Amino acid sequence: MTTLQQSVDLTRSNTLRLPCHVDWYAAPQTLSGLQAVMHEAANRRWPVTLLGGGSNVLLPPQLHGIAIRPSFQHWWLESCGNDVVAYVGAGVNWHSLVMRLAERGLWGLENLALIPGNCGAAPIQNIGAYGVELKDVLLGVQVVGLKSGNLRWMDRVSCQFGYRDSIFKHQLADKVVITQLALRLSRQPAPRLHYGDLASRVPASPNPLAVANAVCTIRQEKLPDPQQLANAGSFFKNPLVSNAQAARLLQTYPDMPHFPQPEGLTKLAAGWLIDQCGLKGGREGAFGVHERQALVIVHFGGGDRRELLQFAGRIIQVVLDRFNIELEPEPRLIQA
Ligand code: EPU
Repeated sequence: MTTLQQSVDLTRSNTLRLPCHVDWYAAPQTLSGLQAVMHEAANRRWPVTLLGGGSNVLLPPQLHGIAIRPSFQHWWLESCGNDVVAYVGAGVNWHSLVMRLAERGLWGLENLALIPGNCGAAPIQNIGAYGVELKDVLLGVQVVGLKSGNLRWMDRVSCQFGYRDSIFKHQLADKVVITQLALRLSRQPAPRLHYGDLASRVPASPNPLAVANAVCTIRQEKLPDPQQLANAGSFFKNPLVSNAQAARLLQTYPDMPHFPQPEGLTKLAAGWLIDQCGLKGGREGAFGVHERQALVIVHFGGGDRRELLQFAGRIIQVVLDRFNIELEPEPRLIQA
């Protein structure tokens, strides 16, 4: 039986520590528990908000209806030739999964160490770091229809992954609950060390654990630990601009980081753009731009979502005025 809790404080359940109360809350640990909660929510006509680890959401002060956090903790491995398939429940903590698989010598997730959040949320924004995205290792996603309660698998192609994007942010937003992932891992050495200075941080012929540990070190150098300073990782997406616009900017800023993409586009570094505007380390009231990584907004305490969005809006405006590029927030805005 899954307990329905009334009037729950979610302030400590989101890594930005935005104050939030929800009318009802449930954290089902089994599929039947989840289906029972969904049935109850439908009967009572409660709006449903799905939560994972709370590391990529902007919560309102009052959330109506029910917040459901799928908390399935199961995971198992199946051999498949030189590969291994991991089946992982939505409630498993992402980083602990990465480390457990790396300790077993399995390749695939090591570059994605120390990303906060739960496995069920990982496909929604196609988490990525150090040259690897979830879509590179994901075989499929098991989902339950929020209205129908039906269970089905979706393969990688039908998830429509893009940069920090998937079908779960669009057509399937709030229509399905992600319950399980299938990930393909390899026993064969397959290090991917081309991003930044990662290669120089690992020994020759590293094992997956050495790569994961190096990624943890790099992240800890730049990114604030949400346990110590509230934040949601990158607050802005890295913008895509036309090659022509990138070329014009490069004339003025020859050192600007830029990454050519398909379809005549170039990806720029939002952190660099914000940094160039002199905003790094700046603070207004409860919110600030992190002093070591301009892409991260930190919450010093006492603020709420409205103030955060105003602060982010001012950053967007300054960058727009200077570079004619409109930054887009990366965390999901949860409707009240
Ligand atoms: N930069 C600056 N100043 C800054 C921050 C960055 O000049 O304050 C420059 C860096 O020197 C570098 C470039 O901007 O030349 C890119 O910076 P970095 O390598 O730190 O990566 P990023 O683009 O800022 C992205 C992801 C991170 C991920 C890292 C590593 C997005 C929005 N962010 O950051 O993801 O960990 O690459 O792969 O794509 C997250 O999504 O929460 C996240 C942390």
